[in-house]
Amino acid sequence: MRHDHIISAKQLSRADIEEVLDHAADIAEDPAAFADRHANTLLGMLFFEPSTRTKMSFTAAMKRLGGDIVDMGSVESSSVKKGESLADTVRVVEGYADALVLRHPMEGSAKMASEFVDVPLVNAGDGAGQHPTQTLLDLYTIRENAGFDDLTIGIMGDLKYGRTVHSLAHALTNVDARQHFVSPESLQLPRSVRYDLHQEGAEVREHTGLEEVLSELDVLYVTRIQRERFPDESEYREVAGQYQIDSDTLASAKDDLTVMHPLPRVDEIAHDVDATDHAKYFQQAHNGVPVRMALLDLILGGEP
Ligand code: CP
Repeated sequence: MRHDHIISAKQLSRADIEEVLDHAADIAEDPAAFADRHANTLLGMLFFEPSTRTKMSFTAAMKRLGGDIVDMGSVESSSVKKGESLADTVRVVEGYADALVLRHPMEGSAKMASEFVDVPLVNAGDGAGQHPTQTLLDLYTIRENAGFDDLTIGIMGDLKYGRTVHSLAHALTNVDARQHFVSPESLQLPRSVRYDLHQEGAEVREHTGLEEVLSELDVLYVTRIQRERFPDESEYREVAGQYQIDSDTLASAKDDLTVMHPLPRVDEIAHDVDATDHAKYFQQAHNGVPVRMALLDLILGGEP
């Protein structure tokens, strides 16, 4: 894979995706074989927004490759509070680390920051923009459970502000998946994403009710309605609590439907789904470690 920075799922070809996923599968099979792969390597962690999965799985991935992290910590405890710009922060931290992982609330921030550094920079989520490493672990989970051949996927919830959705939708065009988007009208895909999917020749349908399409799906990807992204709380309240599923909802689904969620969930998947064979969202979160190990190994110059 030849990329200096990982900013968007749009930059990943089918060959890039297969390379990361195949490498992740090798790592998952024998993680001990990769334990000293990147001894003395440091990963700079710059998280300007909360995270559990992305931050911890990148940390675990770097440590399981034999390296370590240097962590800016919270915005509150860093010099960001004194007014330091993102450009200055990344220029400083590239002197402390061999690669950077950035999460930031501003869409486009990762692209902008990458222009100030020579070490590889990985976008770990830029506002409502992109979350390409989530997409890679999503694809890994889809390939494990449903495969890419003749794939029909439903993506439900916050399609407007959901960066995991925007990234995944682009990547799914690489595997020729049929994509059904289910949301309230106010949270439909942004026009720019819809335009790109059209340009990429994606097979896309939009729905306001899951029942219109559930029985056709191989994968249902549920997302949280993200309160923190709404400019107006009243708009959030209008749609909060809609688009929830429980085990009764899934009665009309295929027996082997895979249910995924990037997590965290609030109330959009009832806990009674967790005990069903459909639920793959915890497996999906765990896949973050081998997939991020694979990506780090490749961008740090490892030979698969
Ligand atoms: N899926 C995801 O990005 O989770 P975190 O916000 O906890 O990193």
